[in-house]
Amino acid sequence: MSPYLRPPIPLYGADFAADPQTVYAALRRYGQVAPVELAPGVGAYLVVGYRAALDLLHDTATWSKDSRVWQQSLPPDCPVLPMLMWRPNPLSNDGPAHQRYRQAIIDAFAMIEPHELRAGTARAADTLIRRFAATGSADLVADYARPVPLLLFNQLCGVPEEHHDRLVAPLAAMVEATSPDQANRAGADFLAYVTELVARKQRHRGPDLVSWLLDHPAGLSTEEVADQVLLTLAAGNEPTANLISNALSRMLSDDRYYSSLAGGALTAWDAVHDVLRNEPPMANFGAHFPRHAVDFHGVRIEAHELVLVSYAAANTTPDGLPPGPRTDGGAHLAWSAGPHACPVKNPALLIATTAIEQLTSQLCDLELTIPRNQLPWRPGPFHTALAHLPVTFTPVPPEPAPWPR
Ligand code: HEM
Repeated sequence: MSPYLRPPIPLYGADFAADPQTVYAALRRYGQVAPVELAPGVGAYLVVGYRAALDLLHDTATWSKDSRVWQQSLPPDCPVLPMLMWRPNPLSNDGPAHQRYRQAIIDAFAMIEPHELRAGTARAADTLIRRFAATGSADLVADYARPVPLLLFNQLCGVPEEHHDRLVAPLAAMVEATSPDQANRAGADFLAYVTELVARKQRHRGPDLVSWLLDHPAGLSTEEVADQVLLTLAAGNEPTANLISNALSRMLSDDRYYSSLAGGALTAWDAVHDVLRNEPPMANFGAHFPRHAVDFHGVRIEAHELVLVSYAAANTTPDGLPPGPRTDGGAHLAWSAGPHACPVKNPALLIATTAIEQLTSQLCDLELTIPRNQLPWRPGPFHTALAHLPVTFTPVPPEPAPWPR
């Protein structure tokens, strides 16, 4: 890593989690590209300008997604490695290898009809609401937003519900990346879960994502299928959970939404889009490595150094607009851009809005127990993720319940 002109700013720890916008404001003082630390001793450049982000994301001749040279400089227990290490999947590859993996994932998701996805999400939502509806209180992160996509993905992969706890803890630990031990153990647990799942589907195919990947004309090997499932679960679950909980926290703390729960103005769709612009679930990602030394927006970056894109910082400063949260309907980078932009954007939007609508229609007087500006956020350089979302509501007795048995 080349020496920085100024000290890197940490993107880990409680201060960044509690107030990322202040950190982004400090980073913008460096220009479009700023030096950061992702974990103690792990440096990177972060693109914080909207124009520079688009320049990087569309320039595949200069920028590669292949992390193999970079990762050789890291100790094997580096806490951000599970998120950034090379794998045979679309995120880590360029050109035809990227396209082959990406197309297999796109085609597998295309097998799921939107009405089935909506029904599956509603089923997962009802299962969870039923567990806490009679109590009159819940933590909507732990009890709802995080398990909803997990239950759904378990359904979509043809996995029995009782296995879902083996998925949730390792996924969270990987994204938080706070200690090397925790991150590596989480990575190993997650891999073991997915390897078993693919081996089961190898023996017994079904109408599910894993079987469609196994039978895809790209001819993926068993290991390659495991890697695409691993990515789908990791890339799909955490950001979708964060999209749901961040949007719910907005709806429950802003009168314009609150009135809509009782038949008024703004909808779940509006809340989701507010989150995408102002608190994108993937806050800082888009790992790229220059194929050769470059001068990029005034910064000299050597070949194979790590450069990330701050979707969160870039979103709040599109060219010509003042910094800060936005309420306009303009473009944003929450799904990234260019050849590696999220390929599952529409299904993810459908899952998030269905999950929110299902909850707010069943429990229509949800109230936050603490103000939104005091809600705790989870540490970690990559995400914008609430730690808890405590609410109360009028308990709904098990009989008669508004949902089917
Ligand atoms: C059904 C849920 C989802 C699935 C299965 C999914 C899957 C994927 C996959 C496979 C990629 C890699 C694409 C490539 O490299 O060509 C990707 C990229 C991405 N996804 Fe999603 N995604 C989901 C939901 C979300 C959500 C809710 C967000 C946040 C708004 C999101 C944001 C992104 C971003 C920013 C990227 C670019 C990755 C990067 O920064 O390197 N995704 N997604």
